[in-house]
Amino acid sequence: MDLISDMSEARSQFPILERILPNGKKLIYLDNAATSQKPSSVIDAMNEYYRGYNSNVHRAVHTLSGEATEAFELARKSVANWFGLPPGGMVLFTSGTTDALNLCALGWAKVNLSSGDAIVLTEMEHHSNIVPWQMLAKEKNLELRWVDVDSESYQLDLEDYKSKINGAKLACIIHTSNVLGTRNPVENLVKIAHDSGAKIILDCAQAAAHEKLDMMDINADFLAVTSHKMCGPTGIGALLISPGIFEEMEPVVGGGDMITEVFKEYSTYQENEHRFEAGTPRIAEAIGWSAAINWMKKLDMNVAHKHTLKLAKNAVEGLKQVPGIKIYGDHSKDDVSGVVSFLHESLHAEDIARMLDSMGIAVRTGHHCAQPLMRRLEVTATNRASFYFYNTIEESNAFVDAVKTIVERFA
Ligand code: ALA
Repeated sequence: MDLISDMSEARSQFPILERILPNGKKLIYLDNAATSQKPSSVIDAMNEYYRGYNSNVHRAVHTLSGEATEAFELARKSVANWFGLPPGGMVLFTSGTTDALNLCALGWAKVNLSSGDAIVLTEMEHHSNIVPWQMLAKEKNLELRWVDVDSESYQLDLEDYKSKINGAKLACIIHTSNVLGTRNPVENLVKIAHDSGAKIILDCAQAAAHEKLDMMDINADFLAVTSHKMCGPTGIGALLISPGIFEEMEPVVGGGDMITEVFKEYSTYQENEHRFEAGTPRIAEAIGWSAAINWMKKLDMNVAHKHTLKLAKNAVEGLKQVPGIKIYGDHSKDDVSGVVSFLHESLHAEDIARMLDSMGIAVRTGHHCAQPLMRRLEVTATNRASFYFYNTIEESNAFVDAVKTIVERFA
């Protein structure tokens, strides 16, 4: 199969990118770290399900239910293959990364950690990889240890990690920062955790959009992933678990589909993934995610990521020429995502974002659900432009010109 290595060809499959906004401006979408756009094939696959074989899964003998069940379970296999799940590993569908991290906290850590045990987090974490652990720590009297982020290099302090992991039971670490774009040395972090006897979960929400993750290579115990940042629909993600973990977990949500038998006194539970998926699952979303994976399989991800980085670096070089702008993140490296966080010394971040919006340019502003990192950087918010393979060099230049114009006019 010939891979798509021409990014304008890839772009042509995303209808929304032709959108003209109500003010007549052509959309320049630079909020890809929040959610990516979807190619026609994903939208079509979900439409086909609703138009042609919408039905509940697992519970009926009729034709439509059979078709829906087959498509739903095929989607699980497709996710397992894409993420290089080892034999015996499992895909537990969730509503997204946040839900996957919470499932790890409640389904695994709550069962296997005891009072006084320690969990290692980093200052770079998204709130979704902080708050569930705080809740659990409170309930079970656990210790939370924080690894420093260097506010000059924007990297994790590895020596601090080595010292904090010592004696800890679990490390919960973001693979690629949604604020800085920093890709953490996850392979090394996993090895260090395992050498010291700790398990490790990686928040791969951002990473899965930019690189082909392989669970066998990474060797982490858990990966938390989501569909909507990698061209799939919102509402679905997964907790990917290594062999041997399933047996150590307890169900968190009870209801239909996760049981084998229910008596007045007690219930018994399924011995497969359904044990963790009570109720009607996310059928259309699973089908859409599978279509997104099929689409990503056709994309040359190395070329795509190089293109994304070129656009981000071009924006960084341009922004550096604008008086009063500070960039947060080290874009001299190649192992970063397409995120460019920046602030102007006197213009309010939200004002810049609103002015960019009036020019058709969508960026994100705020703490990006990473307030401990904001405090480390000594800011309350940043502006964040996040590029993806379907953006163009013209869009990157237009973004820089727009920031320049705003600063010249208002600063
Ligand atoms: N966590 C997503 C972001 O960084 C929503 O924008």
